[in-house]
Amino acid sequence: MDEDTRRTAKRRAGEHAAETVEDGAVVGLGSGSTAAHAIRALGRRVDAGLDVRGIPTSYQARGLAVETGIELTTLDETGGSVDVAIDGADQVAGADLVKGGGAAHAREKVVDTAADELRVVVDPTKEVDTLDRAVPVEVLPDAQATVVRAVRDLDGEPTLRRAAHKSGPVVTDNGNPVLDCAFGAIEAPAALATDLAGLPGVVAHGLFVDVADAVHVGTESDVTVRLP
Ligand code: A5P
Repeated sequence: MDEDTRRTAKRRAGEHAAETVEDGAVVGLGSGSTAAHAIRALGRRVDAGLDVRGIPTSYQARGLAVETGIELTTLDETGGSVDVAIDGADQVAGADLVKGGGAAHAREKVVDTAADELRVVVDPTKEVDTLDRAVPVEVLPDAQATVVRAVRDLDGEPTLRRAAHKSGPVVTDNGNPVLDCAFGAIEAPAALATDLAGLPGVVAHGLFVDVADAVHVGTESDVTVRLP
């Protein structure tokens, strides 16, 4: 799939999911280029009279929501309730995801799993039978070395994510570095998710197990919705 077609597919997926949001909803606003299309489409619906409040998962999502006129709220204000979240993914297998390509997975996991319904928006290149993408692991700065050792003990190969337009590592919205941990084909995502979550110093990892309620897969000309 060439880049133009992929961009169109992402836009269609995001816009399609935004159409499902109901008046009065509290909406989790995901991060990344596909979720950004959903936020822009939601902003257009707000211009046309839709009444929603958004909970952003990153500075990126927050900025877009402000730009497009979506009223913001917080989990504190809603008592932890989110009606629906719309978010992208780096890979999707059934209801399981690898997320964190934009290093926003810690807040995404909080908001996405709080939502009554998680709508995942992707282009077709993200769909796989078995997850095999490196799993982003956000760690406390002081825990980097110990987590590297522990990930190797789990047969993973961690790589510190480096910034593209800054010297040194990527630092998340929470101020932490990210280790991209390659495990090859992930045959038992739930077990790996539990192992990673249990490592001291891990803030959040990008394996989201059994979380997707609907997957909107855009193509050049339409959108298919899978219900895992
Ligand atoms: C952000 O950290 C990620 O979880 C994104 O949702 C994911 O990387 C998908 O991004 P794109 O929609 O830009 O591919």
